[in-house]
Amino acid sequence: MIKPAAVESGYTGAILHMITENGFRISALKQLQMTRKDAETFYLVHKDRPFYSDLVKFMSSGPIVAAVLEKENAVEEYRKLIGSTDPEKALDGTIRKLFAKSVQQNAVHGSDSDENAAIEAAFFFAERERF
Ligand code: GTP
Ligand code: MG
Repeated sequence: MIKPAAVESGYTGAILHMITENGFRISALKQLQMTRKDAETFYLVHKDRPFYSDLVKFMSSGPIVAAVLEKENAVEEYRKLIGSTDPEKALDGTIRKLFAKSVQQNAVHGSDSDENAAIEAAFFFAERERF
């Protein structure tokens, strides 16, 4: 997912370009605005963290771009490409180093396991939207 601040800043094309240049195949793609309820559900694992309500507010504040990506070892490879959650700790050349504004507005989301990737893909896309 490309988060609202990065979409608003016009980074969608540059981020998708980095993703495809790094060998990922985009099998589904769309722009949409999450409702508050969508964002609450999406980030439910973080419901007890102090930043949860701010995160939900931010993630539903404007359009996001959702994508399903495919590559060998995709979860690990994509997390390498995006860099640390905190952009100050992200390595040079990573998506978060280049495009994040802060820990919360950190440009992109990445699934943390194959299992969660499947759940998150189904959250955003119907079967007929995936190729
Ligand atoms: P995602 O790919 O978005 O899931 O990020 P992540 O896996 O690198 O981090 P994590 O799942 O731990 O946190 C989810 C999101 O919550 C992060 O991407 C941030 O937007 C936000 N977040 C995490 N830690 C903090 C924090 O300490 N403060 C604030 N304000 N936001 C945080
Ligand atoms: Mg996470």
